[in-house]
Amino acid sequence: MGGHGSGSAYRILMKVLESCTGQTLAPGRLWRIEMSLGPIMQRHGIADLDTLVAELVRAENRRLLDATIGAMLNNETFFYRERSLFDDIGGPALDHLRAVKESQRRLTIWHCGVSTGQEAYSMAMLLAEQGEKWAGWQVDIVGTDVSSQAIARARVGLYSQFEIQRGLPIKQMVRWFDQTEGGWLAKADLRRRVHFSVQNMLTDRPPLSEPADLIFCRNLLLYFAPPMRREAFRKLRALAPPHSLLVLGAGETVIGQTEDFVASTRFRGFYEPASTDARCSAAA
Ligand SMILES: C[S@@+](CC[C@H](N)C(=O)[O-])C[C@H]1O[C@@H](n2cnc3c(N)ncnc32)[C@H](O)[C@@H]1O
Repeated sequence: MGGHGSGSAYRILMKVLESCTGQTLAPGRLWRIEMSLGPIMQRHGIADLDTLVAELVRAENRRLLDATIGAMLNNETFFYRERSLFDDIGGPALDHLRAVKESQRRLTIWHCGVSTGQEAYSMAMLLAEQGEKWAGWQVDIVGTDVSSQAIARARVGLYSQFEIQRGLPIKQMVRWFDQTEGGWLAKADLRRRVHFSVQNMLTDRPPLSEPADLIFCRNLLLYFAPPMRREAFRKLRALAPPHSLLVLGAGETVIGQTEDFVASTRFRGFYEPASTDARCSAAA
């Protein structure tokens, strides 16, 4: 099964990806389509990309569509990605949120575009290891992603030797994961601290029971076209109370992208919701 396709098959697949997730694929990354869709085509006995596209167009095959989109998404992630950021979160950022939420003793952390879960589990381990500091608090850690395959994996919490070693110190690996035949499985005590849901951040409301105090949205806005990115920031802003903090990926910024968030002057590397006044003057 070669998997080759015509230019129009590529174009259609890119359009499907963009309309379902907002994600765009740069022409230089077209090879991803062919490489990642190979196993799906093999499983479904589909000879090439043209046939796959024809099948997607012809049949209301939701499972094939889901699998196709899931395979085209970039799910790259690892534990404690950008370690220094987690060090900053564990210090001044959480101290700030703790002070603001002291009277309610309730903290909501949302990992938007959480992929296979490592980012949310990293945060859960960080908080658990702060011990007594959070005693008596209700902490909700919610991870969401448009990919149902990624969320299914996040829920199970099973990681290969390669994945578990990426960013996770051995001490934490042994404390929070059990080695099994299939890989390293998050212990029940870690899994119960995080909830995962499928959610398209552009179209669906996230399953949060209250606005988020800390939002991670890292390494996914990068692949949105500018108008989509602006819309995504607007959606995040709607769930971000004035005291909240937003975390983006290392290569992402709000500058020139949105008036909904500004770089925090108090917490380096974080973003804060822009005040309504600031947004009005920026729009004027
Ligand atoms: C490169 S991964 C980043 C994972 C993690 N945040 C990190 O930085 O390590 C980007 C994730 O965003 C997800 N994603 C893309 N478009 C999305 C959308 N519209 N809504 C929710 N998740 C989306 C992808 O499925 C993928 O898992």
